[in-house]
Amino acid sequence: MKLFQKDSEKIIWDQVRPNPTTPVFSNRASNGYRKLMMYLMVFVCVTYLVYTLKLLNTSNLACGEHELIFSTRNSLENLTLSPEIVEPEKTELKHVVFGIAASAKLWERRKNYIKLWWKKDAEMRGIVWLDNPVETQPDDGLPPVKISGNTSHFAYKNKQGHRSAIRISRIISETLRLGMDNVRWFVMGDDDTVFITENLIRVLNKYDHNQFYYIGSLSESHLQNIFFSYSMAYGGGGFAISYPLAKALETMQDRCIQRYPGLYGSDDRMQACMAELGVPLTKEVGFHQYDVYGNLFGLLAAHPVTPLVSLHHLDVVEPIFPNVTRVKALQRLMLPMKLDSAGLIQQSICYDSSKGWTVSVSWGFAIQIFRGILSPREVEMPSRTFLNWYRRADYTAYAFNTRPVARNPCQKPFVFYMTSVRLNSTTNMTISQYARHRVPHPTCKWHMHDPSNLDKVFVYKRPDPQLWDRSPRRNCCRVLESKRKRLVVDVGLCDEGEISEVVK
Ligand SMILES: *[C@@H]1O[C@H](CO)[C@@H](O)[C@H](O)[C@H]1NC(C)=O
Ligand SMILES: *[C@@H]1O[C@H](CO)[C@@H](O)[C@H](O)[C@H]1NC(C)=O
Ligand SMILES: *[C@@H]1O[C@H](CO)[C@@H](O)[C@H](O)[C@H]1NC(C)=O
Ligand SMILES: *[C@@H]1O[C@H](CO)[C@@H](O)[C@H](O)[C@H]1NC(C)=O
Ligand SMILES: *[C@@H]1O[C@H](CO)[C@@H](O)[C@H](O)[C@H]1NC(C)=O
Repeated sequence: MKLFQKDSEKIIWDQVRPNPTTPVFSNRASNGYRKLMMYLMVFVCVTYLVYTLKLLNTSNLACGEHELIFSTRNSLENLTLSPEIVEPEKTELKHVVFGIAASAKLWERRKNYIKLWWKKDAEMRGIVWLDNPVETQPDDGLPPVKISGNTSHFAYKNKQGHRSAIRISRIISETLRLGMDNVRWFVMGDDDTVFITENLIRVLNKYDHNQFYYIGSLSESHLQNIFFSYSMAYGGGGFAISYPLAKALETMQDRCIQRYPGLYGSDDRMQACMAELGVPLTKEVGFHQYDVYGNLFGLLAAHPVTPLVSLHHLDVVEPIFPNVTRVKALQRLMLPMKLDSAGLIQQSICYDSSKGWTVSVSWGFAIQIFRGILSPREVEMPSRTFLNWYRRADYTAYAFNTRPVARNPCQKPFVFYMTSVRLNSTTNMTISQYARHRVPHPTCKWHMHDPSNLDKVFVYKRPDPQLWDRSPRRNCCRVLESKRKRLVVDVGLCDEGEISEVVK
């Protein structure tokens, strides 16, 4: 089975390869091709023989005999390299090689972000590419480091940028040249990018790694996208390149880079070469460049209905949980990630009908409670807790819809941040706890229940690793218990007919 698959992969591979590369490979591939042709010829001859014999034997073919011929054909087809009988092996972490762009100057600080997601014991492969040597320890829980090739002979003519862009742009090619085996995808990221690797794998499994794929996402900033490109994967958010595409890129990238000395960064150089190869960006909006300042809260609490793949610019924005360091905050996010990565920060919207409140759960991250009933189409829109890349709170700055934090002072949300999460192994449910973020609220004259007495929210949720094997849909939430000081909510698959509405 394994051998079969390898052969058929090679054939598919050979077909998509734009031009022959190493002689070893093309010999092996053409051997496979010759074998396939031979099998085909044998198959045609045998079929011809069978049909001739059958026609000679019977002048009047009955239904049953048709079937007989058919089944003979099937078992013969089995002898040829039929791709249908090969159950494709799912993409796993071991099929991915990471290329991490780093610099010696920022290494001491930034390596802590890599430590958050890098799993040394798992079958994780990757290289940190640096400009200058750094001190490393064998047990530092980090990927191996390498020094990038000398790029001083490449022209760089952008006045705002830095020529390290050329070095970083070549990381995929340099990683490919290391000749690792059984690679399906190369994934690029910066030293301040945090990957949720299980979700990365979920996304990559949607695509055929034998084809050319360039997968990533845009900037949040409309102006950045205009200046650079709406067709480019922003490098900090990370992007994935399938093996055959990396192979094609490697043969032309150095020539290609020479044609664009005026570009700013590494990712626009990459996109320029993708355009020459004719490969468009496949957008996956779980990769996050986060070209914003201030607080990511609004974006995280209303994440699109897609797996969270990456977070970037973590040095630029405030820590994602208040009153802790950036690294500590991210460490806290890793706790729910370990229990239910598919559901991490996914939003659910429901109502506490006894109190007249809107409840928005971003599982494993935060809860928002609003006075009054806000429609799901409003709550699923990110609130502008962040500033744009030019440090202004301008709603025209983004390539998506945003809303003000509150349209009415009474509707400023009460926010609860996750403090702990555990799994009850008897019920197989996660129980996550969220504590009130105590900040001053404007006076509200509405005569209704006041959430300011609430201390804690508890959320029950069954881990759902198959969440993204189904069509995208928000989970439903239900208020189970609404007391003076605590609220208990259940999150999970929507029941038949269940929607986000006030249940009387
Ligand atoms: C053909 O199919 C049968 C049953 O599915 C299997 O046992 C046999 O190994 C197959 N032959 C080849 C050459 O793969
Ligand atoms: C890079 O190459 C240039 C000449 O092409 C040379 O002058 C320079 O010393 C090299 N740098 C390193 C770090 O090897
Ligand atoms: C922030 O953390 C410190 C020390 O952990 C604690 O004393 C303080 O009360 C916290 N402040 C808030 C607003 O949670
Ligand atoms: C797990 O759930 C069961 C059933 O609700 C409960 O009896 C038990 O105390 C829970 N265990 C923990 C550790 O919370
Ligand atoms: C909990 O999960 C385990 C392992 O997945 C399973 O064996 C067990 O039956 C589950 N229990 C319940 C109550 O669903």
